[in-house]
Amino acid sequence: MPETHQLHELISRRWSPRSYNGAAVETWKLRTLFDAANWAASCFGETPWRFMVASRSDTAQFERLLGLLVPKNQDWAKHAGALAISVTKKTFTQNGAPNRFAIHDAGTAFGQLSLQAVALGLQVHGMGGFDAARARTEFGVPEDFEIGAAFAIGYLDGDGAPPAGRTRKPLSEIVFTGEFGTPAAL
Ligand SMILES: Cc1cc2nc3c(=O)[nH]c(=O)nc-3n(C[C@H](O)[C@H](O)[C@H](O)COP(=O)(O)O)c2cc1C
Repeated sequence: MPETHQLHELISRRWSPRSYNGAAVETWKLRTLFDAANWAASCFGETPWRFMVASRSDTAQFERLLGLLVPKNQDWAKHAGALAISVTKKTFTQNGAPNRFAIHDAGTAFGQLSLQAVALGLQVHGMGGFDAARARTEFGVPEDFEIGAAFAIGYLDGDGAPPAGRTRKPLSEIVFTGEFGTPAAL
């Protein structure tokens, strides 16, 4: 990882596992994770993020959320310590105008939550593979809110090393200067 060797270890140690050990996540840790999310920056300080969460110690709610995932995700997410779904408020509260930054800001919150998880010995795995329409009706999410992503939170089973060969596009393909597509001289 030549371009990332100076990354903070919270970033370099984060990955998306499918190997959770079935242990519940302590309530104080769950609270800390969502506090980390809630301290993200947001346009006009709107804090558009909302979350539905189910600890595995609350079997009924955990199963309810698990049941929304596609079977392939259920296979491994059933061993997570908690499951959650992010939800985003689509309009600004002060004037009702569309907030086109809401998804951006919810993503920031999810990122902060994911890094806080690493600091607490946990790992988070995002999931698009779930029934968002059913999540809306299941949880009574109002129309003014967009269903975001599902995610699993938990402790790793055994050593739980990330898969070999994780890569990213080089910075030259994602950071530009002058004209879109022209690599920045970084
Ligand atoms: C919004 C979002 C949706 C995702 N959906 C799924 C999914 O449905 N199933 C799955 O196994 N992984 C899913 N992932 C995990 C990605 O595949 C993973 O983050 C990506 O391959 C990069 O790997 P890393 O997180 O270990 O760096 C999702 C991640 C995000 C952020």
